[in-house]
Amino acid sequence: MSKGKILVTGGAGFIGSHTVVELITRGYEVILADNFSNSRKDVIDAIDTITGKKTTCVEIDLCDAALTEALFINHRFDAVIHFAAKKLVGESVEQPLLYYRNNLQSLLNVAESALLSGCSNFVFSSSCTVYGQPDVLPVNENSPLKRAESPYGNTKKISEDILQDIAKVSALKIIALRYFNPVGAHESALIGEYPLNAPANLMPVITQVAIGKRPSFNVFGNDYNTPDGSCIRDYIHVTDVAIAHVVAIEKLLANESALPFEVYNLGTGNGVSVFELIDSFEKVNNIKLNYTLAPRRPGDVEQVWADTSKANKMLGWKAERNLDQMVASAWAWEKQLHEKEIKHVNQ
Ligand code: UD1
Repeated sequence: MSKGKILVTGGAGFIGSHTVVELITRGYEVILADNFSNSRKDVIDAIDTITGKKTTCVEIDLCDAALTEALFINHRFDAVIHFAAKKLVGESVEQPLLYYRNNLQSLLNVAESALLSGCSNFVFSSSCTVYGQPDVLPVNENSPLKRAESPYGNTKKISEDILQDIAKVSALKIIALRYFNPVGAHESALIGEYPLNAPANLMPVITQVAIGKRPSFNVFGNDYNTPDGSCIRDYIHVTDVAIAHVVAIEKLLANESALPFEVYNLGTGNGVSVFELIDSFEKVNNIKLNYTLAPRRPGDVEQVWADTSKANKMLGWKAERNLDQMVASAWAWEKQLHEKEIKHVNQ
C-alpha cells in the first residue's frame, strides 16, 4: 500500500525530478504534472529506470483553472508539492507580466483546487532570493525579507505571502522551503539539471564549458568584500534538497507541522566562493576550466549562506552531501548527457 498520493507539479524539472525519485523509492504514489516548457519528456523514462516503476505523468498547463481543478478532483491527492514555475531571472526582468501571470496564476489555481478537493497538505518551492543581501550571516528564517531584485524573486516572495494568508483562514497546512543554491545530480547520473536554453546558473555553465559546449565562462566580479573577492553562496546537493521535501511531506501527513504556515531554509550552512567552487570542480574531476574575469553581474548579492538549525531541529533534516559530491555528480551527469547526445546524432 502506498504511503500517500502526492501531486508533484513541475516534476520533470531539476529539483522536481529528484524529489519524484525520492518519494517513489520511499513508497509514495506520485502523479507528476508538468507542461514541459523547460524540461524534456525523456526525464520520465530516466525516473522509471531509477525507481523500477512506471511514473504517472500528466501534461497540463496549471494556469488553466478548470484543468487544474479537474486534476485534483479526479485524483484526491493527500498532498501537493508545487515546483512548477518559470525561473530565469534575466527573462523575468524582460518579461515581468509573463512571470507574474504564470507563477502566480498557477499557484492560485493549485492552492484553490487543493482546498476544493480536500487536499490540505502543501509544500511550496521558495528561494533564498527572498532575503536579498542579509545584514547578518548566516541568514535564518526570521531575518527581514528584502525587496526582490527581479520579478522572478518577487513571485517567490508574493507566493509566500499568498500562502501565509490562505493558511490563516483555511484547512491548508503549508511548508515553504527556501532553497539556497541546489546543484549536482542523482548518483545514477540519469537525471540532473537539463536547461533547454543557455544556462545562467554557475554549475551548468561550468559543466558545459568542461564538456566543450562553450569555450569559456565569466566569473562575475572578483572585487567583492569577501576573502577571495568572488561572491559566496550556499551550494547544496539536489538530492539533499529532494529528501527535505519527503521529510516535509511526512511532517504534514503526520500532522506534526507546528504552525499552518512554516518556512525552512534548505542549505548546508557553508559559504563557498565562486573560486572555491571552481577549484573543487577542477580538483575532483581533474579538469582545467577556461574562464575570464568579468564585471559584477547586476542583481547579484555579495554573500549569503544559511542558518539551517530550524530545519535540523524541527524537520530532523540535515544536508549530508559535500561539495566534492556536488561537483562530481554534476560532471558525471553532463558526461552522460553528452554521450547520449552523440549516440542520438550517430543514429
Ligand atoms: C540565481 C538567482 C536566484 C535564483 C537562483 C535559482 C540571480 C541574481 N539570482 O541565484 O534568484 O533563486 O539562481 O537557481 O540570478 N556566476 C558566475 N558566472 C556565471 C554564472 C554565475 O560567476 O556564468 C556567479 C554569480 O555571480 C554568483 C554565483 O556564481 O556569484 C552563483 O550564481 P547562480 O548559479 O546564477 O546563482 P544565484 O545568482 O545565487
